Amino acid sequence: MDDLRDKYLTAIAAAADEAALEELRLAAVGKKGEVSLQMRELGRMTPEERQVAGPKLNALKDEINSALAAKKVALEDAALDARLAEEWLDVTLPARDRPRGTIHPVSQVTEEITAILADMGFAVAEGPQVETDWYNFDALNIPDHHPARTEMDTFYMARADGDNRPPHVLRTHTSPVQIRSMQAHGAPIRIICPGRVYRADYDQTHTPMFHQVEGLAIDKDISMANLKWVLEEFFSAYFGTKVKTRFRASHFPFTEPSAEVDIQCSFEGGQVKVGEGDGWLEVLGSGMVHPKVLEAGGIDPAEWQGFAFGIGIDRMAMLKYGIPDLRAFFDSDLRWLRHYGFSALQVPTLHGGL
Ligand code: DAH
Repeated sequence: MDDLRDKYLTAIAAAADEAALEELRLAAVGKKGEVSLQMRELGRMTPEERQVAGPKLNALKDEINSALAAKKVALEDAALDARLAEEWLDVTLPARDRPRGTIHPVSQVTEEITAILADMGFAVAEGPQVETDWYNFDALNIPDHHPARTEMDTFYMARADGDNRPPHVLRTHTSPVQIRSMQAHGAPIRIICPGRVYRADYDQTHTPMFHQVEGLAIDKDISMANLKWVLEEFFSAYFGTKVKTRFRASHFPFTEPSAEVDIQCSFEGGQVKVGEGDGWLEVLGSGMVHPKVLEAGGIDPAEWQGFAFGIGIDRMAMLKYGIPDLRAFFDSDLRWLRHYGFSALQVPTLHGGL
């Protein structure tokens, strides 16, 4: 028994890890362990021998179990100490910078415009960027060979050789969504459509892709007065100050009468300031929807009438946030994006401010 005791206590003290410890436990006090086998021998002893050997064996078993448990705790502590020594963390170091994007001014302004007009009861509609020439032109009362077709610097999609159908176009304005929305929902209707439009043009204030928001309101008794009120409310909300507007008679094939709208601004020191001064800046086209356009949309012009408008979103962003060159909008220059971009937390809402 003393030999067993020496052997196991020494081995346990020297065990390198928990696996070795478990092997020792099985060898000593496991079912077929040496101490267990000795205990089985008790049955064959005389009662006198058993009275001496029994308590001794039990004591030995207890001693080995305690040594195993103590060694287990010691090994765990050592393992923890080793990890603590190796895996330390300096919580006073500054956090690593995580690349974070910004919201593009066009996205921000689109959200701002949508928030204002949604509050006036306009729903958001969408249409395809690749349009048929019918939706982009004919349905809007711009027939073939009408000068407006060439004025728009249209991008045409390719057709296969021998396919003589008129080519699709990259929509030159968001106005075709008027037709699609009227066809889909009929009258009365009140929608806006923000989206991308395309024209072959490139200078400080023109890019081949830019953004418009179309507005359309059709009902039984809608007049120019409603149009004027909506636009004046819109500009004041958007610029956060009372903005004077000027309606100039104009011509668009899809509206009759038509008006271009200017907003009041000053041009001092090369800077445009909206809502002050005695200058005017053209910002949108509008008018009463032409009866032929209502018809193309499947709406009876004898029963319904309404107004439409088209605003340039990019220009709205340039004016409000003082961005001088439109081309930079689409250069993907990170320095520009960080400077003019918005935090994702600056969600435009009417109550939170625009
Ligand atoms: N579609 C015109 C353009 O891109 C803008 C426009 C003018 C839209 C008058 C309208 C409108 O809805 O009524 O130049």
